[in-house]
Amino acid sequence: MKPIATPDHLARVRYEIRGPLARRAYEIERQGHEVIKLNIGNPALFGFHMPDALRDAVAEHLPQSDGYCHQKGIVQAREAVAADMAARGVAGVDVDDVFMGNGVSELILMTLEALLRPGDEVLLPAPDYPLWTAAVALTGATPVYYACPESRGFVPDPDELDRLVTPRCRAIVMINPNNPTGAVYPASVVRAIARVAERHELVLFSDEIYDRILYDGAAHEPAARHCTETLCATFGGLSKVYRACGLRTGWVVFSGRRGPAAKYLQAVELLASLRLCANVPGQWAVAPALARDQGIAALTSPDGRLGRQRAAVLEGVGRSRHLRVVAPSGALYAFVASHTPGFDDERFAMDLLERERVLVVPGSSFNIDDRTYFRVTLLPDPDTMAEVFVRIERLLDG
Ligand SMILES: Cc1ncc(COP(=O)(O)O)c(C=O)c1O
Repeated sequence: MKPIATPDHLARVRYEIRGPLARRAYEIERQGHEVIKLNIGNPALFGFHMPDALRDAVAEHLPQSDGYCHQKGIVQAREAVAADMAARGVAGVDVDDVFMGNGVSELILMTLEALLRPGDEVLLPAPDYPLWTAAVALTGATPVYYACPESRGFVPDPDELDRLVTPRCRAIVMINPNNPTGAVYPASVVRAIARVAERHELVLFSDEIYDRILYDGAAHEPAARHCTETLCATFGGLSKVYRACGLRTGWVVFSGRRGPAAKYLQAVELLASLRLCANVPGQWAVAPALARDQGIAALTSPDGRLGRQRAAVLEGVGRSRHLRVVAPSGALYAFVASHTPGFDDERFAMDLLERERVLVVPGSSFNIDDRTYFRVTLLPDPDTMAEVFVRIERLLDG
């Protein structure tokens, strides 16, 4: 039999967070060795479990969860998301503007597939969360990157975005708080990016899945508050803030100018209908999740678990002769740089895994050419984190 071929555009699709390094780590574990994994933002693996109120809501409603629901999701969840948007200063959103999905991941794929044609362009942050680039590539459209450099605290320059817009550009993707850098954008930057989208009549996709994971008094500014003259799609979910990624429950909220977007919104609904509906059990956890803070502020405070783990990363980097980092203001990651001459992120990550049994993600996996960065999660406990930086130092000392 001939080898089974795959479509050419798949060659441009990458997701290295679960790629060859992660596979090699799995092999090492199967040989009986322990690997410290700082590669995936999976809170449950590190003992962060969903709050009781979410688990109870799922358990209580399981008997009502065996049928398909509406293609946009159950009304109770969509009402809760709409109310949460209103509470955050986004006017005029109702249940019909909310779609529930199997995680934000599914909604990213659906909302881009409904929009893009081959040859279209989408502005994406560099570095990015690589699913965004992959989802653009799957449609045959072209990612065009705007820089979020370390020299600016990984914050984009709205004027640069404006200059990158061509007649083929259809959308801007913003990830705030950011994965992989942990940057939280100032309100003025969010407002200015919304203006760029409005001025060029682009759809603004704002991935805000880490919206309440904030450190050191950082404040998150919802893009939808500022984007009224064009369509804005805000993404959120239970995976990170509510530590329930296994439920696979996320949402997208459409706000701003919906009139000219009617055809597009019908296309999103058509794609939602093709997959019938999102998992129903997890959707019952949305209203209790959004009803109160559910413990995230305590976890991110300086003496909370995430606050202390973040401090352990900063201390580990502070003690290093080879590393530097911009302190993350949000999300679950730090994007660490090495100034050691000849440092190559992929070789470093492989050597760290083979010699020191620590798994990190090379920075170039996030669609940047620069090979001096690597991403760690803030999830392991402070002692483990300290041990990780001892091992990194040993490797870089050579
Ligand atoms: C920025 C960002 N967006 C979206 C997702 C996907 O989240 P989920 O599909 O679990 O809702 C992730 C997961 O790590 C992420 O970091």
